[in-house]
Amino acid sequence: MRPAILFVDENQDVLDGFKRVLFKMRKEWDMDFVSSAEGALEKIEQKSYNAVISDINMSGISGIELFEVVRENHPKIARIFISESADMKTLIEVLGTAHQFLVKPVDPQALKHTLCRVMSLRDYLKDSKLNKLVNKIVSLPSQPEVHLQLLQAISTSSLKEIAKIIKKDPAIAAKILQLVNSPLLGIRKRIESIHHAITMIGVDILKALVLSLEIFSKFHLTGLSRKELDEIFNHSCAVAHYARIIAMEITNDKTTANDAYIGGLLHDIGKVIILSEFNDLYFKIKDRYLQSQHRLDQVKTFSFQVEEEILGVSHGKLGAYLLALWGLPEILVETAAYHHSIGEYYYKMFSSVTAVHIADAVKRSETNSTTTTTELPIGLDLAYLEGLNMNIMEKIPASINKINELKGFQP
Ligand SMILES: [Fe+2]
Ligand SMILES: [Fe+2]
Repeated sequence: MRPAILFVDENQDVLDGFKRVLFKMRKEWDMDFVSSAEGALEKIEQKSYNAVISDINMSGISGIELFEVVRENHPKIARIFISESADMKTLIEVLGTAHQFLVKPVDPQALKHTLCRVMSLRDYLKDSKLNKLVNKIVSLPSQPEVHLQLLQAISTSSLKEIAKIIKKDPAIAAKILQLVNSPLLGIRKRIESIHHAITMIGVDILKALVLSLEIFSKFHLTGLSRKELDEIFNHSCAVAHYARIIAMEITNDKTTANDAYIGGLLHDIGKVIILSEFNDLYFKIKDRYLQSQHRLDQVKTFSFQVEEEILGVSHGKLGAYLLALWGLPEILVETAAYHHSIGEYYYKMFSSVTAVHIADAVKRSETNSTTTTTELPIGLDLAYLEGLNMNIMEKIPASINKINELKGFQP
């Protein structure tokens, strides 16, 4: 069945513009056009849509109100806003209801690209129950003390100091990257780092965003779950740091190293989704995984394999789905999706995804205290790595040495 998309705008000229621009896609996508939110709600009741693209400012029911209803009653539909521009209040409201944002006049290429990406989300998450649940997520839990530190730092510290704090919390970093990658702010540059991202959005928007995270956040993890969240975040920060060192050692290319850092920070965001949205299953998966490690009669399983068994999807694919839905750059989505199953990755050259794959294995082996500088960590996909350019296998031990050398110098 062709994916169905609904366009909502009061201005007939805008709707005609969409029709013109997307004329060639009519065989691939089933597209409907309506001129009010009321009309959109009627259509949504009658037909199953994959995405709704709506203007924010409409007389009658506004775009934000429309999306609140869609989020609540039809969470499987991806929600994309289109706006002329937005003030801070609207921006924050929008962040709480839409997955992505476009600006008028819409660039035809950007529109097609956004829609193609949203339509390909099913590659990461086929289960419609899971997809409904993830589509409802507006923000992920972050560490309360980091949140507080950040709010204090925003008023008193330099952007460099603020970036340092954000780098401790992948959930806040993901939300900032969602905002900064949206055309709504008109930033057309490639975002190179967290520091770069906050320089682009400025302190006022950052403050409004950080404050809004608390409003959006419906869960307050306690006890054991808090401990797990801390572990995931500490692991993610270390993997980010290691991945940057590995990428720099192997390529000496700053862009790859920066992508590796941000990719490392967000690579396990799917685990945060499982912890916050499927709390019981998170612990069931953990128990089953730990049991499997102690059995001598079977081949050791990885936790992502247990997730597939119990939840039907790995944390990698789950995280990739959310990052893609939020419009984060493709390379970050691919890092989350393939950091364990890198053999499935179509790109057969060294990249930031490879760096995160290696860094993750190094960190996990270290946690299990089996790594020495001469030993390759468990969990590396040797067949994939051997097939790459640049003699990667020969360079991995030197990268691990470098990581050990730089221990304690984590920025
Ligand atoms: Fe992972
Ligand atoms: Fe990991």
